Amino acid sequence: MPDVPPLVRRATDAARALGFEKSSVPEVGRLLHALAAQRGRARVGEIGTGTGVGAAWIVAALPPSVPFVTVELDERLAASARSLFSGDGNVRVFVGDWHDVMPAEAPFDLLFYDGGGKQHPERDGEQVFGLLAPGGTIVMDDLAPGRSVEGDPVRSFWLRRADLAAVEVTLSPEMAAIVGVRAV
Ligand SMILES: C[S@@+](CC[C@H](N)C(=O)[O-])C[C@H]1O[C@@H](n2cnc3c(N)ncnc32)[C@H](O)[C@@H]1O
Repeated sequence: MPDVPPLVRRATDAARALGFEKSSVPEVGRLLHALAAQRGRARVGEIGTGTGVGAAWIVAALPPSVPFVTVELDERLAASARSLFSGDGNVRVFVGDWHDVMPAEAPFDLLFYDGGGKQHPERDGEQVFGLLAPGGTIVMDDLAPGRSVEGDPVRSFWLRRADLAAVEVTLSPEMAAIVGVRAV
């Protein structure tokens, strides 16, 4: 397995220094890294930056000219991520609520949905879906593996749509994710 990119190490160190414990695990990071490396990525986003661990996995694989936008509600975390990416003019870290920030930045052809109510798709799942470009990919982690779709609002919403080709991927014994591609 390849080394962890230096940018990811720095984001992880910052999370430790700030006592932030919700950063993406490496299994999720590697999934994001692979998807970001895919040919044709033109506009990439993230909801819920933390200190930038997932963002760092993405940015480390993106061609340098591809814009990447991430938004974080917590000012302290956003400041940390902003400092991490300060040398990269194609990365923008917003402080605020994604509902206010992301519609103007969309559509995305890769979106990591990692904060701001992802456990409650009945509230704003449609708005998140609307941030995707046709053919765009969404990634959501933090699912407990091995659960059925029935009775699970997140799986029911994202895995049963006719306009999203979606699959649940088990990344470790503790972590599953949904990867979906919006119909063209
Ligand atoms: C799971 S953590 C993000 C981890 C990060 N994506 C990573 O890969 O390390 C979720 C983050 O979403 C942020 N958040 C929660 N509600 C939000 C909202 N409405 N808009 C933007 N960020 C939000 C939280 O403050 C928290 O830092």
